[in-house]
Amino acid sequence: MSAQILDGKLLAAQLREQVAAKVSALRASGKRAPGLAVVLVGGDPASQVYVGMKEKMTEAVGMHSVAHRLPETTSEQELLAVVAALNADPAVDGILVQLPLPAHLNSELIINTIDPAKDVDGFHPVNVGRLSAGLPALVPCTPRGCIMLAKLARADLSGLHAVVVGRSNIVGKPVAQLLLQENCTVTIAHSRTRDLPALCRTADLLVAAIGRPKYLGAQHVKPGAIVIDVGINRITTAEGSSKLVGDVDYDAAAEVAGAITPVPGGVGPMTIACLLDNTLTAYERRAE
Ligand code: GUN
Repeated sequence: MSAQILDGKLLAAQLREQVAAKVSALRASGKRAPGLAVVLVGGDPASQVYVGMKEKMTEAVGMHSVAHRLPETTSEQELLAVVAALNADPAVDGILVQLPLPAHLNSELIINTIDPAKDVDGFHPVNVGRLSAGLPALVPCTPRGCIMLAKLARADLSGLHAVVVGRSNIVGKPVAQLLLQENCTVTIAHSRTRDLPALCRTADLLVAAIGRPKYLGAQHVKPGAIVIDVGINRITTAEGSSKLVGDVDYDAAAEVAGAITPVPGGVGPMTIACLLDNTLTAYERRAE
């Protein structure tokens, strides 16, 4: 196994340190701390873990952290009122509504209500449009993390053929936009794509964002390619224990790839670090 391991844990820690240093400089000059609000509805165990981590890391970089934990039975009206109050709160620069929301709540409606200037997830149609038009935007966190990790392997991605497997609004589409901005030739593959292994083998840069454990293997990887694995899937092993795996069969792909992100410790940690960085960006733009 000769592939370079793209260490997201280390890169995320470095990004958080940079954010913390900027927050500290703002505080030292008498300015208020940037504020991030996270809204969680219901008791989904994975979401509870994520929200707890976001809160902890927001505080660790010196930002003002606001958390709203609302019951599963929260009505759309009640959630809209919470978002409206956060939109109006001058101490809050970033608002994140944790997804997935319980089925009775309309995620699209809720996201569209967030002030685009505070939309640190980059999910609001205004930010989606600005990203695709190449205008300054708040850019989704996980896609930003993917690009930063790919650049560890190769600082200039220009001219590479990037294949993105997955077309979600949260990862697939925005990561494709960012790769286009990096001057890659971009192909988006999905469940209807014909001969996925052959297409993936043409990729200099392969991004796996499918949501299926170990869906891509050695047969999908061109020798020397950069492989970015966005998947976080909890599986039960043959021995009956629980473990996290990506959308890529890491051991098999690492035999062929030039560089690869591990799971855990690859893209995952980058998401929260980019969220904090986006909150700082939102703060700076709002102060302009
Ligand atoms: N659930 C899983 N990932 C995310 C994310 O990046 N943002 C939000 N809001 N919810 C998520």
